[in-house]
Amino acid sequence: MKIDGTQYRALWYDGNVVKFIDQRKLPYSFEIFTARTVDDVAFAIKEMVVRGAPAIGAAAAYGMALGEKETQKSAELLRSTRPTAYDLFYAVEYMVQAINHKENAFAAASTYVEDIIIRCKKIGENGEKLINDNMKILTHCNAGALATVDYGTALAPLRVAHGKNKKIFVFADETRPRLQGLLTAWELFQEGIPHALIADNAAGYFMRKKEIDLVIVGADRIAKNGDFANKIGTYEKAVLAKENGIPFYVAAPVSTFDPKLKDGSQIVIEERGRKELSEINGKTIMPDWVSVKNPAFDVTPQKYVTGYIAESGIRKKWL
Ligand code: MRU
Repeated sequence: MKIDGTQYRALWYDGNVVKFIDQRKLPYSFEIFTARTVDDVAFAIKEMVVRGAPAIGAAAAYGMALGEKETQKSAELLRSTRPTAYDLFYAVEYMVQAINHKENAFAAASTYVEDIIIRCKKIGENGEKLINDNMKILTHCNAGALATVDYGTALAPLRVAHGKNKKIFVFADETRPRLQGLLTAWELFQEGIPHALIADNAAGYFMRKKEIDLVIVGADRIAKNGDFANKIGTYEKAVLAKENGIPFYVAAPVSTFDPKLKDGSQIVIEERGRKELSEINGKTIMPDWVSVKNPAFDVTPQKYVTGYIAESGIRKKWL
C-alpha cells in the first residue's frame, strides 16, 4: 500500500526484528512498533498493534521465527493471544512444521507472508469482476492492506477496480466498538478512492434508499458449510443486504478456512474488554456502574452469502 507516496506493508522483517505499522495510532500518527522477541509479537497481536486475520497470521509466522528456540512454548503463547481468526492457528502450525523439518525459520516465515500477499492480490483480481462502473459498495470493518500485510481481502477488488479506472464509491463502517471503518477510510484516502464513513446503524438507511449496490466483507474464520465469523456487526449487514436484494460477498484466502469446523456454531467468539465501549480516545464516556458486553465478532450463516471471493476464483459455496 502507498502511504504518502511511499510503499509500505502492514508488517515486515527487518534484520532480526519485525516491524509493524502501529494500527492503534492510525490515522492520527504513523508510528512503527518494533518486535524483538516472540513476547513482543504476542503483545502486538493481543493489543491490536496488528489486527485482521491474515496480518495476524503473518505476525505469528514471524513470531515463531523469533521464538524458534522454544518452538512449543512460542506456539502456545501465540495461540493464546486471540481466539477467533483462524489464520493465526494456520500460520503457527505452518511454522511448527517448517521448524520441525529444520527449515530456516525466518525464510519460512517470509515465504508464508509472500504467499499471503499473492493470495490477496488474486482475490483482488477475481473480485474486481463483480464491480461495475459507478457501483456503490459497502464494506464493514477494515479488510484492507493493514489487515492482510498488503492489498487486503474485501478492499483488494476495490483497489483493482479503481486501478482500472472504474468509478466506485465506498461506504465504510464499523464505528463501534473500535472505529475500524476509519482505518478503511484512511486506506481509501491514501489510494484516492471516493468514500464515506457511516455509522454502523446507518447501513440499512442507505440500502433502502438504493444507495448500496454491493457488499464485500472479509472473514476471520470460515466453517466447512460456509458460515463465517467477521467483525461484530457483519451479521446484521448480511441480513439487511438479503432483505434489500443486495449481493453480499465474503473475500478470504484459504488460511482463514478451518476445515475442522462443520458450521459456524463451533467458532469461538472473542470477548474484548470493557474499555473499548466505556472509553473513546482514553476518555470515559459512561459511569462505572454500567456493565457492558463486548463480543468482537459475530457469525453470519452461509444462507446470507451470495458468494465467496477466494484466490482460486469466485464461488457460490465455500466448499
Ligand atoms: O478484531 P480485528 O480487527 O482483528 O478483526 C478484523 C476483521 O474482522 C476483519 O474483517 C477480518 O479479519 C478480515 S481482514 C482481511
